[in-house]
Amino acid sequence: MRSLIDIVDFTPTELDELIATACDIMENPAAYAERCRGKKLATLFFEPSTRTRLSFEAAMLELGGSVIGFSEANSSSAAKGESIADTAKTISCYADIIAMRHPKEGAPLVAAMNASVPVINAGDGGHCHPTQTLADLLTIYREKGRLSNLTVGFCGDLKFGRTVHSLIGALSRYDDIKVVLISPEELKLPSYVKKEVLQKNDIPYEQTTDLSSVMPKLDILYMTRVQRERFFNEEDYLRLKDSYILEPRKLQNAKSDLCIMHPLPRVNEISVAVDKDPRACYFKQVLNGKYMRMALILKLLEEATV
Ligand code: CP
Repeated sequence: MRSLIDIVDFTPTELDELIATACDIMENPAAYAERCRGKKLATLFFEPSTRTRLSFEAAMLELGGSVIGFSEANSSSAAKGESIADTAKTISCYADIIAMRHPKEGAPLVAAMNASVPVINAGDGGHCHPTQTLADLLTIYREKGRLSNLTVGFCGDLKFGRTVHSLIGALSRYDDIKVVLISPEELKLPSYVKKEVLQKNDIPYEQTTDLSSVMPKLDILYMTRVQRERFFNEEDYLRLKDSYILEPRKLQNAKSDLCIMHPLPRVNEISVAVDKDPRACYFKQVLNGKYMRMALILKLLEEATV
């Protein structure tokens, strides 16, 4: 049974096919309106979410299917101690496909090993968030016209930011990608991502604490929130939370076709004044995420029936 746990579960060719399907859905939504009639998506969210859960639900509804699920662990039998494995076996009796978010790294993988339907990782702890990456790839493709030959700056919480880990994993398989890592010392990209992804794929990268010095070279600036929920103490979070605040004046030396991205939610790291800048793409990412999740649901359900 094919699931999506990590973005590298899909080849670059498959990612390109998903992008093509998403673009076709945007052009011809009526052609897809009945494609999942009679199918059910279960959204199992053990952690808060606005975009991922609701875009999955919107995606399935726009494909003609239905949605069941829960949006917090306390309203499920997990609160009584039920295991992920038993939850996955149970939900497989009710739904054709599962989207799961969980605070523990690896929980969606355990679900996939026990479910008899496809499981989609909708974010597992500080590990990865492959469907955000699908949204990010479509956004980059639509804004820049390519997924290769790009200098991509990741700024903020690169330690706990699972969207960063997943996007680096995806982009590392395209040609001529350069990565610039901008973070406080305490929130640097984990060494396993540097070794297993960047170094293994010979991706040139640099690390800095200074956003302004690298701004002119960036094609993409991927801002991230400092992930309060992953910190062991509040004091450290308060000290680090406003390390980077993107404001219009800080974009003066940026490229005129810079693409400013953020997986959202934002807290302080992008001033709302930046929203008016035509280079701000983060709300486009939100919409692109729905179309990519539609394409993903179609792919996994089609593969499950062959
Ligand atoms: N980008 C993202 O995962 O947003 P939510 O936490 O609102 O789902």
